[in-house]
This record gives sequence, C-alpha cells and structure tokens, in this order.
Amino acid sequence: MATSNGGGDVVLEVKGLRTYFVTKWGVVKAVDGVDFNLHRGETLGIVGESGCGKSVTMLSIMRLVPSPPGHIVGGEILLEGEDILQIDGSEMQRVRGGQIALLLQDPMTALNPVFDMEDQVGEALRIHKKLTGRALRDQVVEMLRRVRIPAPDVRMKDYPHQLSGGMRQRVVGAIGISCDPLILIADEPTTSLDATIQAQYLRLLKDLQQETGVAIIFITHDFGIVAHMCDRVAVMYAGRIVEQGDVRQIFNNPSHPYTEALINSVPKMEEKMERLYSIPGQPPALWDLPKGCSFAPRCPYVHDRCHEAYPEVFEVQDGQTAACWLREPQAAARSV
Ligand SMILES: Nc1ncnc2c1ncn2[C@@H]1O[C@H](COP(=O)(O)OP(=O)(O)O)[C@@H](O)[C@H]1O
Ligand SMILES: [Mg+2]
Repeated sequence: MATSNGGGDVVLEVKGLRTYFVTKWGVVKAVDGVDFNLHRGETLGIVGESGCGKSVTMLSIMRLVPSPPGHIVGGEILLEGEDILQIDGSEMQRVRGGQIALLLQDPMTALNPVFDMEDQVGEALRIHKKLTGRALRDQVVEMLRRVRIPAPDVRMKDYPHQLSGGMRQRVVGAIGISCDPLILIADEPTTSLDATIQAQYLRLLKDLQQETGVAIIFITHDFGIVAHMCDRVAVMYAGRIVEQGDVRQIFNNPSHPYTEALINSVPKMEEKMERLYSIPGQPPALWDLPKGCSFAPRCPYVHDRCHEAYPEVFEVQDGQTAACWLREPQAAARSV
C-alpha cells in the first residue's frame, strides 16, 4: 500500500524542463515547462493520456532524446543537486544505469536471447562496478536472490527462453537494480501486457523498492494503477504538469478538471462497460497549442480567462498544486 513520504529529501528536481522536436509541421513542444521533485525512496506516478510527453520527459532525464529532431531547449535536471544537463557525455554514462536506471517492462524485448542470465545481469556490474571473476559471479547471484529467483546459482546459467515471463521480468528487475540506483524509471510499454504479467510487474517494482529503498518514477496512462502503486502523482497534459500532490489528496480532491476527468474514466468494478466514461475531445496538437490553457477546448468549466493566458500554478493545500484559473484564490473567494 502506498505510504506518504512526508517530504523526505529530494533526489531529483526537474525545473522548467522543455524538450522540443523540430518537424515539418513545426516545433512539437513535447515537454513544455515541466517541474517536479522526487523524494528519496518514494514512488511518484506520472500520469496522462498517450502523447502528452511522459516518455519524452523520461528520455530527457536520461539524456536519450533522439537528436535531431529532439532538443532539450531549457530547464534544469538536478540529481542530488547537480544539473545533469550540464555534465559531459562520459559522466552522463555513469549516471545512466548507475544512479538512474530505466526499467523496461516488456520482458520479451528487454533481454537478449543469445546471452545467459549471468552475462546479462553481470554486464552492468562489469561496466559500472568494475567487478570480475568470482566477485562478479557472487554479485550476480546476490542480485538474482534479491528479485527472488529460486536457486540463483543454478538458474543464472539459463537463457531467456528457459524462463517463464514472470521470471524474465525479475531478471530485468535485477539488471535495473544491479548498480544500486537512486532512481528507477518504469515507463509503460508501448504494447499492452497481459493482466498477469502486468500484475507481476507491479509486484516486482514494490519488491525492488522494499529491498533497496530505490525511488521510483512510475509512468502510466492508467489512474487506477497509480492508486495502488504511488505515494505522489503528477498529472501531465499537453507537455505540462497540470496538477501534482499526494495520491490521497488527488483522489479525494482532484483540483484540475483534467485530473477529475481522468479519475472519472477509471473503470469501477461495479459498473457495466457501457457506462465507462471517456474524456470528450482530443488533446491539442503539440505544434499548435492554444493561447491560453491547453485543456480549455475540452474543459466543462471553461471561462474567458482560460482562453487568454496559461494558468499559474496555485497551491490547493499543503503539497498539492494545480495549474487552473479556478484555483486562483480570488476565484475561490468569488465562488463562495
Ligand atoms: N522522435 C520524435 N519526433 C517527433 N515528435 C516526437 C518524437 N518523439 C516523440 N514525439 C512527440 O512528442 C509527444 C510526446 O510523446 P511521448 O512522450 O512519447 O508521449 P507519451 O506521454 O505517450 O509517452 C508526442 O506528440 C510525440 O508525437
Ligand atoms: Mg510513452
């Protein structure tokens, strides 16, 4: 069960991040001024519809944005206070897979079929920890033990096709934590996983966190999963974070109309499928954003102000913020 972190120390601070793609349609503002913090050992969910910029945000943090056409054009990414947008390529390579690890969810594509587990788990340890021989072997066994692979000293000689889907996923998890990262980024796969594999994956993430205390950034389009997995959540729409806060705060008191719509679109067990709510309209084109709030064309509470200027970020309650003119203190005062 998700627990509140209570604002422990910050390991990652993303400030004003902007990542654009130069295309024949124009400049695609995939990430357009994103701010969030990640605290030590917590799970932060980043949630939003497909195409809102979640993966590009993570690729920016890893400095893996394909360039061209992509460019990080602004902002800071502070890893324990150091801006990793300013460090050179070889230092960044140490950060990648060392302090920040990206976890691929699809166990079918994440492992190389021609290498055994010992080689694949050992690779990062060889590169980042400079381990060889017996020490390397022992550490591989330890990593497989941590992800609860039975008889790891025997199973490490297996190739991917000899393992079940769930076991393969655990091996991917072992690779992810092999260098004791501070941060694990789990981005949703582009193709959907079946329900069993998905459930096993979520369990694995929680196990990894319990074993290592790693902070997790969990990316999904599914608010239902956020409720089970995350301590805090940042809601993303058209390249920006529109609301963030504690999971409980957000569920009990969604303060951006987009968050409210996303929560309403989570299927409830007792409801029949035909009553499933989906958000009317389409997200805007990221190369041609409206002048004011990007959600305005779909918003049931839209008013004139929303078309004039992008909303400021307002504090709703301690730890919860929303970029919506409805949350402006004067607006709240007017409405009572
Ligand atoms: N290589 C690319 N070239 C041009 N546009 C891109 C590229 N990669 C991503 N984008 C655009 O950036 C936006 C955000 O994409 P992405 O971060 O993958 O969304 P999601 O929230 O689904 O992960 C999308 O509109 C997408 O079309
Ligand atoms: Mg994505």
